[in-house]
Amino acid sequence: MSNTEISVLENITQILGYRPDFFGCDLRDMKQLEEIFEKYDFDGVVHFAGLKSPRESCDRANEYFDNNITWSLKLFACMEKYGVMKIIFSSSAAIYSTQGMHKKGLDENADIWNTNHPYGSTKLILENILWDLAKFSWFQVISFRYFNPIWAHTSWLLWENPVWIPNNLFPYIMKVASGDLDYISVFGNDYNTHDGTGIRDYIDVNDLVRGHILWYEYFDTIGQNVACFEVFNLWTWLWISVIEAITSVSNVLWKDISYVFEDRRLGDLAEVYCNPMRAKNILWWTSKVTLDESIKNTLYYHKISA
Ligand code: UD1
Repeated sequence: MSNTEISVLENITQILGYRPDFFGCDLRDMKQLEEIFEKYDFDGVVHFAGLKSPRESCDRANEYFDNNITWSLKLFACMEKYGVMKIIFSSSAAIYSTQGMHKKGLDENADIWNTNHPYGSTKLILENILWDLAKFSWFQVISFRYFNPIWAHTSWLLWENPVWIPNNLFPYIMKVASGDLDYISVFGNDYNTHDGTGIRDYIDVNDLVRGHILWYEYFDTIGQNVACFEVFNLWTWLWISVIEAITSVSNVLWKDISYVFEDRRLGDLAEVYCNPMRAKNILWWTSKVTLDESIKNTLYYHKISA
């Protein structure tokens, strides 16, 4: 709840048609965690909790290690104690060492030994820990490496709306488009890319949700008591530059979006994109939502008319 509001729960209730059980539990609170595991006979865990800003992690490394790693260990210990072995983990493309970058994008076997910032390191370390838990404690692990998840749920009830000024690209562009902010700073125009700005792969959150549901069902195919550790890239394979991102929003909205070039941001890489073929081949997962559709989905929240 550190970057959201409890009112989100009401919107989730509207989508589901019932109010899901909710516990505002801090993972540091082992006692409360155990009470929750005691109360339910959980089938598995989907672990999204974590701080996620590469830039911020450069300034607050220990906080990232503590929050993302130490408290996850409590969760894993609790899972083992209560015999809950299935886990889907939100990893990140930030774990790849980009030396292996080539036009086909990084696949799951690419080097992961050289992360660029503490945030990436926390994801890498947790993947290694989960790998050991699969080998020695019979955990069933699926780790998704995704990159820049963007936008809103198609119900128009859930959207990315950080409680402070956003540090991710698309939420920031939308705040400029809606007039809340005057302009966007483009961090670096001297990268070795076609227009000098950073290249990324932006994936719609609805595609990601579909991926999580499909892979959860995949657990059923491997059966109980079979340890597994599977890693998948969830990517669109349609990477764009910062300038192209700004232009896309501008074209959909028929609106100029002001930007200024600034220095490169600490921890940023020139380009990162992955190869999602493994997800396609094994579960027939591909991204479906186009960037223009994603942009349109989110207009409502930003009170912008196109
Ligand atoms: C990073 C992680 C990604 C993680 C995401 C979550 C890496 C390589 N990637 O993405 O795995 O899921 O954070 O937060 O570590 N930009 C601007 N101006 C802005 C904001 C961003 O120019 O105001 C540029 C950045 O320099 C970058 C691109 O836009 O080139 C995307 O930045 P951002 O949306 O913050 O995500 P990443 O840092 O790429």
